[in-house]
Amino acid sequence: MQINLEAAVISQIDLSRFLPHVPPEYRAPFQGAPGEEHYRLLAHLSTLFNDATLVDIGTDAGCSAMALSHNPRNRVISYDLENRRRSDIQLPNVEFRVRDALHDWQEWIATPLISLDVAHEGDYEAIFYEFLSTSPFNGLLVLDDVYLNEAMKAFWATITHTKFDITAVGHWSGTGLVVFE
Ligand SMILES: C[S@@+](CC[C@H](N)C(=O)[O-])C[C@H]1O[C@@H](n2cnc3c(N)ncnc32)[C@H](O)[C@@H]1O
Repeated sequence: MQINLEAAVISQIDLSRFLPHVPPEYRAPFQGAPGEEHYRLLAHLSTLFNDATLVDIGTDAGCSAMALSHNPRNRVISYDLENRRRSDIQLPNVEFRVRDALHDWQEWIATPLISLDVAHEGDYEAIFYEFLSTSPFNGLLVLDDVYLNEAMKAFWATITHTKFDITAVGHWSGTGLVVFE
């Protein structure tokens, strides 16, 4: 699979229809340019697949879930350990779940795309990566904040699958793309 990750292409993504669901303090970052924020990148990646279930781990206010729902032909399951959404976001192709994603893994393991953006302490990331490595998953894993702190840098360094630093079109704090095949 060839993926076009040109900034000029990703910049074209229009996320403005989601703004009514985005908390005011996140509206500028949500529309940030590739290389500054990763929401347009997530939306762009959603266009690579159709009729798929995409997985968002770390819902917070729902911004990454909304970006992943950009392609209406896909369904998004978004997980958080607590409900941190500021409003009752209702989108036809997003389902929010308040529990550990690993609880439901058999339901989504055929997904072509997972976004992982949790507490950035490196521990859950390592557990999740180890789980995927020993599972039938053969899609793309997008990691946010891989250079945010020493724990995340160390975690990123441990990844042995084919991986790409796509920070230039993602989040300034480091965006990693891991390919499972
Ligand atoms: C940085 S925020 C996510 C931001 C969001 N992905 C976005 O881009 O808008 C991290 C979130 O991960 C959640 N979280 C922490 N550990 C988690 C876990 N093991 N599974 C799911 N969510 C988790 C936190 O409650 C928090 O809401």
